[in-house]
Amino acid sequence: MEGFVIKNLNTLDEMSLNEIESILENAQKFSEGLVFKRLADKIAVNLFFEPSTRTHYSFEIAERKLFMSPLSFFREASSLVKNETFFDTVRVFDSFCPDVLVVRSSEEAFYKSLINKLHVPIINAGDGTGSHPTQSLLDLLTIIQEFGSFERLSVAIIGDVKHSRVAHENFKILTRIGCKVYTSGPAEISEKNLNYIDFNYAIKNCDIIYLLRIQHERHHFSKFCFDNYNKIYGLNFDNINLLKPGAVVMHPGPVNRDVEIESKLVEHPRSRIFKQVKNGVFVRMAVLRYVLE
Ligand code: CP
Repeated sequence: MEGFVIKNLNTLDEMSLNEIESILENAQKFSEGLVFKRLADKIAVNLFFEPSTRTHYSFEIAERKLFMSPLSFFREASSLVKNETFFDTVRVFDSFCPDVLVVRSSEEAFYKSLINKLHVPIINAGDGTGSHPTQSLLDLLTIIQEFGSFERLSVAIIGDVKHSRVAHENFKILTRIGCKVYTSGPAEISEKNLNYIDFNYAIKNCDIIYLLRIQHERHHFSKFCFDNYNKIYGLNFDNINLLKPGAVVMHPGPVNRDVEIESKLVEHPRSRIFKQVKNGVFVRMAVLRYVLE
């Protein structure tokens, strides 16, 4: 259709702060139960080539709350098992003419291979170690609900920074939006160029302690030993009381209990882990509205 521009969500780098703030405002309204125009009759295809619980099913709930028709793809029952490629699989679903494709893949920046090939908007639901824009948006919503502003907040992203798309996307967007962002964790899985600081300094001085999952599935060549990880780089009953007054603990999930965080602290009063999960639905409703309206 001439003059019709497709709005994708590949990475937050491609969005202005105004666009991001508008999504957060709409997500906040959804969280308060304010009703928007329905997106009835719109078909969303959820193409998850990597496992997911939070992102996949919160998209499906968001789509149902907007009265859309979600269609989920199961890779084991698809022609991927007959060696069809990722690219061809996405093109096949695009050819079915749905209204939006939600895609997760282990391939970093997979969306680049699809530029100008698709007829419907695409939402990146996580690309390898690259980006996870809807996770970052739900983190921003959780932070703004907690602190009211991003100005002068200090954030420590701790753990497996090297393999984390959440760490990479959050480091960039939190910096852009006005926070002071640091990283910390074991040297073998850190990125020292991302404002690396000492773990004990981080947990005593930052407003947000953002723990990362150890991504065992991406440690193909790593010899890193995780014994005693929780004692050295995790949150535990010995160090939880060292946190700055008012500081909160976040984690994108899924949590390796007793690794990044001692199991009984997952629901500690400082933890916002399940609040993040809840905000995922509202943010994804707002993102669907952003690409479809
Ligand atoms: N945080 C996150 O992306 O979780 P899932 O892998 O369960 O979607």
